[in-house]
Amino acid sequence: MSKILILPGDGIGTEIIDQAVKVINSLNSNHEMGMTLVNGLIGGIAYDETGSPLPEETIKIAKSCDSILLGAVGGPKWESLERDLRPERGLLGIRSELDLFSNLRPAILYPQLASASSLKTEIVSGLDLMIVRELVSGIYFGKPRGIEIRDGERFGINSATYYESEIARIGHSAFQIAQKRGKRVCSVDKANVLEVCELWREVMEEVSLSYPDVALSHMYVDNAAMQLVRDPKQFDVMVTSNLFGDVLSDCAAMLTGSIGMLPSASLDKNNFGMYEPIHGSAPDIAGKDIANPLATILSVSMMLRYSLNQVELADKINSAVSTVLDKGYRTKDISAVGDKVVGTEEMGDLIVMALESQ
Ligand code: IPM
Ligand code: MG
Repeated sequence: MSKILILPGDGIGTEIIDQAVKVINSLNSNHEMGMTLVNGLIGGIAYDETGSPLPEETIKIAKSCDSILLGAVGGPKWESLERDLRPERGLLGIRSELDLFSNLRPAILYPQLASASSLKTEIVSGLDLMIVRELVSGIYFGKPRGIEIRDGERFGINSATYYESEIARIGHSAFQIAQKRGKRVCSVDKANVLEVCELWREVMEEVSLSYPDVALSHMYVDNAAMQLVRDPKQFDVMVTSNLFGDVLSDCAAMLTGSIGMLPSASLDKNNFGMYEPIHGSAPDIAGKDIANPLATILSVSMMLRYSLNQVELADKINSAVSTVLDKGYRTKDISAVGDKVVGTEEMGDLIVMALESQ
């Protein structure tokens, strides 16, 4: 029996989470999964209701749960708040509080969506890439940080910092994942300019000694961005720092046709995890029943695979998604001429139906 914390958050968060909850309920009824759901607050809505984007209560409940499923946070309504009160701080806060350092962002192209990619089909067909992003350190969290007055003018500071232990543990995550896949890790840095990346590269080399079956290569981040759009299939596992991983994973997402398709897992050292779509809260389309719920539904699949040890059920969700795409159903973001365009709710129902008729 697993207890799952549901954090819908802001914007399209609520409607996409609703579809994932339908999937969880279906697994409960048909596979006796006994997953109990508790709701919590994070992001802008948490600020509105409690004055904080990450109420202590949320962390407390999270620590009593087996897993977390998150929608998305943020929106224009909260952009002018003081920095520490903004919704994004809630997300960064929960990642950090729970030490969810290992962020897995798979970019997999569903063959049915090859034409939705902005790249030529032959470049992306069969794409199956895993970005392993360090999530609780680096420039996102480094100190000093802030905006101050220096020499009579405004001066902005952030610090890209890593302890060797922080680099080593994300390295181990990446190598262990590669062992179960194509046995290749490409570590992405900017070691030609930044000392912190020089250390990153050294530590990755050291970690690689424990994994003689996995080949390690290094790439500068500017080249990696270019290679991702030139020949993305050259990569198996890519491991990188917090900021580079943020940027490269959006780029990788678009290779697959839509950012609305990609789930993610953020894990601690015991594989306790928070699962979320990699896209944002898309306030411009919130409440219109057009958001793509598949990344969130696929996040449930990742949760079953990585934290709840239910690989078979995870596979069932993935094949339900495939079946629905095979039948030509698409949300607007992944649709082409001739597709059957459906809304968020209907897409959720179709996945549940496909799941239940397997
Ligand atoms: C992501 C998002 C977040 C990040 C934002 C919302 C703080 O872009 O998960 O990729 O930068 O990590
Ligand atoms: Mg991002």
